[in-house]
Amino acid sequence: MTDNTADYSDQSTQRDTSDPTNDDMLVETDVAGAATESDQVAADTIIRSRDLDVFYGAEQALDGIDIDIPENRVTAIIGPSGCGKSTFLRCVNRMNDRIDNCRVEGELSLRGKNVYDDDVDPVALRRRVGMVFQEPNPFPKSIYDNVAYGLEIQDVEGDHDEIVEEALKRAALWDEVKDQLDSSGLDLSGGQQQRLCIARAIAVDPEVILMDEPASALDPVATSKIEDLIEELAEDYTVVIVTHNMQQAARISDKTAVFLTGGELVEFGDTNQIFENPDNQRVEDYITGKFG
Ligand SMILES: Nc1ncnc2c1ncn2[C@@H]1O[C@H](COP(=O)(O)OP(=O)(O)OP(=O)(O)O)[C@@H](O)[C@H]1O
Ligand SMILES: [Mg+2]
Repeated sequence: MTDNTADYSDQSTQRDTSDPTNDDMLVETDVAGAATESDQVAADTIIRSRDLDVFYGAEQALDGIDIDIPENRVTAIIGPSGCGKSTFLRCVNRMNDRIDNCRVEGELSLRGKNVYDDDVDPVALRRRVGMVFQEPNPFPKSIYDNVAYGLEIQDVEGDHDEIVEEALKRAALWDEVKDQLDSSGLDLSGGQQQRLCIARAIAVDPEVILMDEPASALDPVATSKIEDLIEELAEDYTVVIVTHNMQQAARISDKTAVFLTGGELVEFGDTNQIFENPDNQRVEDYITGKFG
């Protein structure tokens, strides 16, 4: 690689690990010995937060977030603008580290290990927790090199051609680009670019994929492709998606978390229950469009 990879550090979301289950970053902790019932973690929990607060300077963006996000499911995060949805996502892979005045307190664990512990390497963490953003952000490189990027900088063993092909297939883009792998990723349509970014994310085989409004810049057809893809990805990955589109959340997610103004997680549960019969009046008002 002759490129200045540092230029990509803000948008590059995954660096590879050839064996994410044998990562030196995270050590499984014994959750069985948890002190109280409320502290116990369901067996399928992959991301857990307890009393998670986030501040930007003096302003509090998240207030005491407790959540258990299950593995290999789609969890949607919904709520009005400014309620802290992106801030929460950025805690999971410590992207908030890059914001100068941002301070995080409390626990945010990945498979039982607090990602804010001193011994956690955020670069290693981001290998395991990929991210896809609202605006598709392919690198100014070929389609092939976009997907192979993480493989190359991590020196991943294996047949990169095969891994790139597989990632493009899983991102439902292969058939459209297989004859133009050397063309620039920037020449693709917006919807194709977003699927390219998803291919780039999955090529390095992360455990979690965070998506921050991944379809909000796309037309309905491209959006529908991304939605189908997200449901398929959940067979192998944990997907956490922020969306302003309630129908989208209802369609594609298993669990829904409703954040409301003040940075509170007001309700979290099965998507059907949240949309059909929420416990919380503010959630009902938000979902039925009475505010937000
Ligand atoms: N880099 C930053 N510096 C200072 N304050 C910030 C920063 N990023 C977010 N905030 C503030 O934190 C709060 C939560 O912002 P966040 O972007 O997480 O909300 P959001 O729910 O993702 O909103 P949207 O739906 O508009 O994307 C807001 O009050 C916002 O102004
Ligand atoms: Mg946001």
